[in-house]
Amino acid sequence: MTTISYRQATNQDVPFLAKIRSENQETENHWNDRISAYLNYTHNPQQALKTRIIYVALHNNIIIGFVAGHLTTRYECQGELQWINVVEKYRQTGIASNLVQILAIWFIGQKSYKVCVDPGNDIARQFYKKNGAENLNSHWMFWEDIRNIII
Ligand SMILES: CC(C)(COP(=O)(O)OP(=O)(O)OC[C@H]1O[C@@H](n2cnc3c(N)ncnc32)[C@H](O)[C@@H]1OP(=O)(O)O)[C@@H](O)C(=O)NCCC(=O)NCCS
Repeated sequence: MTTISYRQATNQDVPFLAKIRSENQETENHWNDRISAYLNYTHNPQQALKTRIIYVALHNNIIIGFVAGHLTTRYECQGELQWINVVEKYRQTGIASNLVQILAIWFIGQKSYKVCVDPGNDIARQFYKKNGAENLNSHWMFWEDIRNIII
């Protein structure tokens, strides 16, 4: 049985996150800059507050996925899921759903229950729907109360 572990990300993890994120979009350099700046508060998504976090999923000490989220006032939400990625060969085994659970627990700890997400693509939209999110408008999705999805 494959054992996956989860922990909070550090700045040292950023190159690994950049590599994973660049498998679908943009370059490793782009994501190195972007994710570092997100963690160091020099890149702030619209209406983002400073409080933010990244969690990673690991298999045999190798990072195979991550999720990032922050507090916000965007769309009258209190939280926003910024990025989520799982390395292709580990997909559809529940790792991203576990990452959403871990991030949801963090949001609850921040007393931030209404959480938005920009799905970006159809698979992600199906993924968020499966994880309890609803449509906020023609593009964005949200959890009215992220406490409701905790298993
Ligand atoms: C979206 C993503 C994070 C899902 O990761 P994952 O670990 O495969 O997700 P899970 O295994 O937890 O999937 C849970 C549910 O999501 C949906 N889902 C996931 N992959 C799917 C696919 N390829 N086709 C259709 N539905 C899919 C299903 O409803 C699935 O439930 P099921 O297994 O009971 O059918 C992953 O596909 C990914 O990294 N995509 C590229 C990055 C991206 O688009 N991120 C989102 C925007 S930032």
